[in-house]
Amino acid sequence: MFSLKSKKAVVTGGGSGIGQAIAVQLAANGAEVHILEITEQSGQQTLEKIRSYGGNATVYACDVSKQKDVLEVFAQIGAINILVNNAGIAHIGKADTTSEDDFDRIYNVNIKGVYNCLFAAIPQIRKSGGGVIINMASIAALVGIPDRFAYSTAKGAVKAMTMSVAKDYINENIRCNSISPARVHTPFVDGFLQKNYPDNIEEMFEKLSKTQPIGRMAQPEEVASLALYLCSDEASFITGVDYPIDGGFTTLNN
Ligand SMILES: NC(=O)c1ccc[n+]([C@@H]2O[C@H](COP(=O)([O-])OP(=O)(O)OC[C@H]3O[C@@H](n4cnc5c(N)ncnc54)[C@H](O)[C@@H]3O)[C@@H](O)[C@H]2O)c1
Repeated sequence: MFSLKSKKAVVTGGGSGIGQAIAVQLAANGAEVHILEITEQSGQQTLEKIRSYGGNATVYACDVSKQKDVLEVFAQIGAINILVNNAGIAHIGKADTTSEDDFDRIYNVNIKGVYNCLFAAIPQIRKSGGGVIINMASIAALVGIPDRFAYSTAKGAVKAMTMSVAKDYINENIRCNSISPARVHTPFVDGFLQKNYPDNIEEMFEKLSKTQPIGRMAQPEEVASLALYLCSDEASFITGVDYPIDGGFTTLNN
């Protein structure tokens, strides 16, 4: 089941958290993985993990918000079968407390970064006769989350881009789906707690865990397993769908 043997996959933000878990699982199931990462050093850590059990990966220092750089890296990689648009950053704020700079920063990585990789990847997927795209959205695209104005805006756009791409390339054998996790325990969450609640990290961790009706945060590997399935030929009839993976957050929180 779920063999990605002879598939070439690009994972953005593969140096940490969900992206690292996805890169590892894709490689563990046979894919040749190419990691685009703004912090190359973290990409190298993923590479070491993958190599430790004989997997195959390459890391490229690349900021996904820079189209020229993204195009250069994809040209270097050549034809691919899979794109996982995972790189993303967080921001806390409401519409009237989000500065223009912060809004632009979130836009540039979480929306334009996804577009840049789609723009560069689709011609390379076409060369392979088709393939699969996964975009990392969030439950913030589905329901109102407090203090996440710019982030929710961006993730809503990611979900909409997913439907647009799924529609436009369906006749070219390209499937496109998105994944919408609730809280996943990654450095993303640890950094958020450190920055915003330095004096009561443990209490806030517990509180955030309990916002999922299942009573905990997800592990990155649980999201990666869904990504692996969606990338595999076993999911060949699935396109244009957003998958909440949220411990009941969107449907059971009442
Ligand atoms: N952790 C959660 O609770 C959660 C929930 C829902 C959605 N998500 C989404 O999942 C994705 C991954 O989140 P995570 O929790 O693993 O985060 P993380 O911070 O642990 O990892 C994100 C990775 O992306 C890289 N990155 C950031 N900006 C980049 C850029 N401009 N170019 C290239 N790489 C860049 C970072 O260096 C990092 O390695 C994000 O899109 C995030 O919005 C996370």
